[in-house]
Amino acid sequence: MPRPRPAVVPVAGVVRELAALRPRILAALGRVLASGRVVRGPSIERFEREWGRFLGVRHVVLAHSGTSALAAALAGAGVGLGDEVLVPALTFPGTAEAVLAVGAVPVAVDVAPDTLLLDVPAALRAVGPRTRAVVPVHLYGQVHPELPRLARALRRRGVMVIEDACQAHGALAPGVRPAQWSAAAVYSFYPTKNLGTVGEAGAVATDDDELAGRLRALRDHGSTGGAAHAGFGVNLWPGQLEAAILSVKLPRLRGWNEARRRMARRYDRALAGGSAVHPVVNVTGEGHVFHQYVVRCAARDELRRRLAAGGIETAVYYPRTLLELPGLGPRLRRRGPCPNAAAAAREVVSLPVHPWLTAAERRRCVEVVGEAARALDPAAR
Ligand SMILES: Cc1ncc(COP(=O)(O)O)c(C=O)c1O
Repeated sequence: MPRPRPAVVPVAGVVRELAALRPRILAALGRVLASGRVVRGPSIERFEREWGRFLGVRHVVLAHSGTSALAAALAGAGVGLGDEVLVPALTFPGTAEAVLAVGAVPVAVDVAPDTLLLDVPAALRAVGPRTRAVVPVHLYGQVHPELPRLARALRRRGVMVIEDACQAHGALAPGVRPAQWSAAAVYSFYPTKNLGTVGEAGAVATDDDELAGRLRALRDHGSTGGAAHAGFGVNLWPGQLEAAILSVKLPRLRGWNEARRRMARRYDRALAGGSAVHPVVNVTGEGHVFHQYVVRCAARDELRRRLAAGGIETAVYYPRTLLELPGLGPRLRRRGPCPNAAAAAREVVSLPVHPWLTAAERRRCVEVVGEAARALDPAAR
């Protein structure tokens, strides 16, 4: 008799998270429905206060998505037609789409080979007379550790920083808190994020009172305080229901992030000393929130096949650089080659790291990943 195949360990925990929190989420949704305030109401204001307190930032403006929040942050900070904005070549397309949405041109910059975060020397070399902003991405949940150095060098050249923290809910680096070295930090609450809603939502966090005011007007057809439509804006509102769900989940975020870090440490130990499969380097220690636990492997397809055979689901973020995407690539400007991003796009693999893995699944993941890494190691062949 063939042995029954083990159930697949999912790479994302959304289904389990929603099942575990279902009664609390339904109760929160019920309260919104009963209030009749289904748009533009107190659930949004409440979560903005809570997220601001959590981050230690003066203002949070909730928006419809991470992409629209990033576009709003750029527009609110004065980026517009003809400006250039530097973005890392390895990120989610939304980073560059937001730049295009405000009429500016995204310029792709390479990433550092170890952390896969924006390469600071390459970014500083890419600054030109039209460069208005740089958007470092805290990829996979790791805050860019060189943000202070980057921000200081850019300030001298009149260029601002806007952080794409869409994958970095609660992440920290030494001497860096959100929006401390930037005009704003931008978050996505897409359902698979460390803090995600049901539906879509995003946020801009900023310490700048004036920018916050402009963002509120931008979100609401230009309405400023009492004056309806006095400024310029569009409709960037999230829903009340989305905000109410975020308030249910936020008190659990620290614990979830800690569970992700514990799992990451187990993988790190299982992979230590090998040469075929190695984790993307964590230089922020306990500040990393492991939205993704990502390893690199030259034989990626073979690694994924072995993990799939062992019942481990994997994913690839991102299989192509922004420049290699047929729809987006031609809209980006390039100032230099991006070999590190291109190499990474061929090697990166995400392993299950979410807080909803059972103890048995965590054990299985570490065992199967360790075995696959040893089997692919040239020294073992
Ligand atoms: C790095 C990065 N930037 C921007 C976004 C866009 O966020 P949203 O999907 O909420 O528009 C995401 C979300 O996946 C992201 O991971």
